[in-house]
Amino acid sequence: MDILIDKPAWKNLKLHRDSLTQSHMRDLFAADKKRFEKFSARFETLFIDYSKNLITTEVLASLLELAKQCNVHEFLQDMISGRKINFTENRAVLHTALRSNINAKVFTDRSNFQVKIKAELSRIQLFSEKIRNGDTGEFSNKRITDVVCLGIGGSHLGPELVVHALRSFDKKRLNLHFIANLDGLEVQEKLASLKPEKTLVIIISKSFKTTETLSNARLFDEWLNISLGIKQTKKQLIAITANKKSAIEFGISTKNIFSIWEWVGGRFSLWSAVGLPIAIALGYETFENLLQGAEEMDQHLLTSPPDKNLPLILALISIWNVNFLDIPTHSIIPYDTRLKWLPRFLQQLEMESNGKSINFLGKSVSYQTAPVIFGQVGTEAQHSFFQLLHQGTQPLSCDFLLAVERPTKKDVHYESVVANAFAQSEALMSGITEKNAKAELLKKRISKTTLTKLLPHKVLNGNRPSNTLIYRRLDPATLGMLLALYEHKVAIQGKIWQINSFDQWGVEYGKQLANTIKNALVDLSAEETLNPSTANLVSIFQKMRKEPH
Ligand code: F6P
Repeated sequence: MDILIDKPAWKNLKLHRDSLTQSHMRDLFAADKKRFEKFSARFETLFIDYSKNLITTEVLASLLELAKQCNVHEFLQDMISGRKINFTENRAVLHTALRSNINAKVFTDRSNFQVKIKAELSRIQLFSEKIRNGDTGEFSNKRITDVVCLGIGGSHLGPELVVHALRSFDKKRLNLHFIANLDGLEVQEKLASLKPEKTLVIIISKSFKTTETLSNARLFDEWLNISLGIKQTKKQLIAITANKKSAIEFGISTKNIFSIWEWVGGRFSLWSAVGLPIAIALGYETFENLLQGAEEMDQHLLTSPPDKNLPLILALISIWNVNFLDIPTHSIIPYDTRLKWLPRFLQQLEMESNGKSINFLGKSVSYQTAPVIFGQVGTEAQHSFFQLLHQGTQPLSCDFLLAVERPTKKDVHYESVVANAFAQSEALMSGITEKNAKAELLKKRISKTTLTKLLPHKVLNGNRPSNTLIYRRLDPATLGMLLALYEHKVAIQGKIWQINSFDQWGVEYGKQLANTIKNALVDLSAEETLNPSTANLVSIFQKMRKEPH
């Protein structure tokens, strides 16, 4: 296969970039009254405006041609039908099968996974209903009021995002607590606020090897044990894992283990039993609707024409910004507090998936891959880091997200929220020219000296790209659609960049090192095995620890 930069479409895109370097989006809008119409698309209740990117019809055509030359469509079909596209781990990537209602059989290693998936979904339904209905049978004759979810990364970010986003769909109000970090203080405070006989503890770990999760799980196990004894503790400890053996060794009853499988990547796993907290917190029907929305997006991905295909468009626009306009950072700004946890979810999804530099041939790539992702809820973000977006030296791109329907009927400020979102995207795009900035200053009747001094500071260059995603209502199906949209965006980008979006060797190495260093911290003789730079840190740490307080 020829490498990416040799593809004709890539070369064409470079030519387009060269001819566009002097262009401003302001002028592109002025020159084409149909720009918004041309560069926007809708699927069901989701609308995307991508006209505020430095693109032209020719750029879009070449981007779509690039996707074709990279066999993106064939790759997505391979993914959905269970081919082992995770080429460093020789695994299929089948999160789409988790939400598929089509009874097409998905085979990998000759077994039909649809049967296993459906069986696990039934268990999730039964179990979540039992907890929500206050079935006290197994739980010390007390209703479960609090559910603690221990897990990190993909075993945490998706469920917490969804539970937070859709809280208004729940009328039962069980208390869900998520603990990801390895932080003794956080656990201590949580334990002090909970009653063991009313608390269910769910350990979520695909590998059942993750230090943070298992260390926290031991603390909760001990806490339950002290108050309730071993027999009762076993009833209140649940595990969700692909490593049943280790969960059993930990002390979890077999019947309390929910399965996930190696072909479900952690950051794509909220659709599996990892979503059990969602079903418990919000009801199984909500979980099902979430899956159904995601499945609709899967169908859209496979069947809609390329120029109307939302995940493809988002992926290609991002490639244009990263690889041709050299924009290394992308921010996610939901003008919707319910999506508060979306930026950090997408941080893992995009950066852990595509933060790679080796291609499928084992060679270093000669172009940028995943941008740095960060973000925060608007309007908070405006008062935090937007100054840099408008006038900083580093270019950034943005995704703005907002609902048409106000989050609650009583939300009297909603027009103001929407106005802020639209204002930011306009300001980033059009900026303020020197002429306009001067006219504004002149209205203030200031002296000529002050005007000369202030004017350069009042100019905003603009030309900063953004997409605006508008959804009618943040309901479970729409959220499912939205998350699947981003998942597919990431997979498409990985295919075009010729990297493996589904492994995470860099993170694995850090985990390995932490174990060695921990040994040195508790056993000084092991210090010799350390890298000299770390040995110095270990020794200053030990020294400062001994200093009198
Ligand atoms: O951060 C690395 C990682 O392996 C993620 O990919 C994963 O989501 C997270 O750790 C948690 O892993 P596990 O579910 O195996 O505990």
